[in-house]
Amino acid sequence: MEVVITPMAEDAARVVADVVAQLVDPRPHAVVGLATGTSPLGAYRLLIAEHRAGRVSFAGCRAVLLDEYVGLPPDHPEAYRSVIRREFADHVDLPPDQLYGPDVWADDLLAACARYDRLLADLGGVDLQLLGIGSDGHVGFNEPGSSLRSRTRVKTLTKATRRDNARFFASAEEVPRHVVTQGLGTIGDARHVVLIATGAAKAEPVARAVEGPLAAVCPASVLQLHPHATVVLDEAAAGGLQLADYYREAYAGKPSWQGL
Ligand code: GLP
Repeated sequence: MEVVITPMAEDAARVVADVVAQLVDPRPHAVVGLATGTSPLGAYRLLIAEHRAGRVSFAGCRAVLLDEYVGLPPDHPEAYRSVIRREFADHVDLPPDQLYGPDVWADDLLAACARYDRLLADLGGVDLQLLGIGSDGHVGFNEPGSSLRSRTRVKTLTKATRRDNARFFASAEEVPRHVVTQGLGTIGDARHVVLIATGAAKAEPVARAVEGPLAAVCPASVLQLHPHATVVLDEAAAGGLQLADYYREAYAGKPSWQGL
């Protein structure tokens, strides 16, 4: 796992946007996993600006969603497909039919989950999966207790996550109780996993994920097993890390031939 500590949230966003742009440039048919939440928004804005400046194209890419609420109508503004379109996909040249997500509107939800895992494999696997981290250490919607090898499936949100996400809805009661999320095993199949976290509120879950024990109680700790995981932080989110000085030194001294 590589931990990159940047001064401010904007710097973290720049690092993540550059990783995506540098993937897509030599690999125009890349499969990119997109996350919702506020954490990746800065990176999306920078990528949109790069696209408008003619420096990056997503025309041949396939984008895949990490998770989706169950029970919202497909056109609900907070359905994650709508969020990703509004915040990113509609502003770049990604063809709408190259944006994929789990079909939470299918009659047979369990079959739809299995289909989504098959789809990711049929696309050739995910080249780069972006992630945020929840205050309880969740990634995607894999809440504490999630099997570290889980596949795409239905999960029940914790009270804490529903409270965190209430800001996107008129009331906490409107936050769906159920979701479909890529499993921790599914996420782990991505060739490169990039987690971005900024702000002091993320310092505790980040420290547990990066330096705590590998444990289902902190689902993001599963990234410790991944052969290519990058955690991009601002100083505030890095506030709980014991080895912060080492991470800074390693990043500052990185040889120029070695990308992220
Ligand atoms: C949500 C999403 C996650 C996201 C997390 C943190 O519940 N399902 O993908 O990483 O919460 O959100 P934020 O980035 O807004 O803090």
